[in-house]
Amino acid sequence: MIIAIDGPAASGKGTLARRLADHFGLRHLDTGLTYRAVAAGLLANGLPLGDEAVAIEHARYLDLAQMDKSVLSAHEIGEAASRIAVLGGLRDELVRLQRSFAETPPGAVLDGRDIGTVVCPNATVKLFVTASAEARARRRTDEMISKGQEANYASVLEDLQRRDERDSKRTVAPLTQAADAVLLDTTKMDIETAFRAAVDIISRAADA
Ligand code: CDP
Repeated sequence: MIIAIDGPAASGKGTLARRLADHFGLRHLDTGLTYRAVAAGLLANGLPLGDEAVAIEHARYLDLAQMDKSVLSAHEIGEAASRIAVLGGLRDELVRLQRSFAETPPGAVLDGRDIGTVVCPNATVKLFVTASAEARARRRTDEMISKGQEANYASVLEDLQRRDERDSKRTVAPLTQAADAVLLDTTKMDIETAFRAAVDIISRAADA
């Protein structure tokens, strides 16, 4: 069983994916972390973000088990991740890793931008999780404040909108809803309601 979850920044897909993996007894991969881990490696070594060969070299050494979300969630790493995510050769390398994770029994929940369209086009169920830009900016601001980080709603909103635009307009694997994905708009839902809606959609699809 493979569950593909895509959606824009701060749509709640990560929390949802983690809870769904627990619920269905599957493994979970936040594919955003793979882009973040490569970006962090380049930043730490003062390497350019536009050099594809160097980025691919970093991706080859990536160990999915060693990715530390608390370190990789830094704001500037997310920004750098979205810049290197336009490099087609780098994506091919990361998609290979992500696919092999997905195809290892008993299956997995993967969340990202191109899971239903590119990484796992034959997934058992595909969800496209979204919410208004304002709701997403509010959640991301609250999340940062709860971690003791500084956060300003207006600049978080601007940042999300810039990143959505870059992710949606790039030529390779842009953020887009797969034709056979079910849309889940969480603008007016808390995480518990979104989780229950997702479980319903998945249970129905798995029975079909
Ligand atoms: O959590 P948040 O939505 O802020 O970002 P993320 O999921 O960690 O992803 C960071 C960046 O990696 C995104 O802005 C995308 O540019 C890129 N990404 C991608 O291109 N494809 C994926 N499957 C996952 C992330």
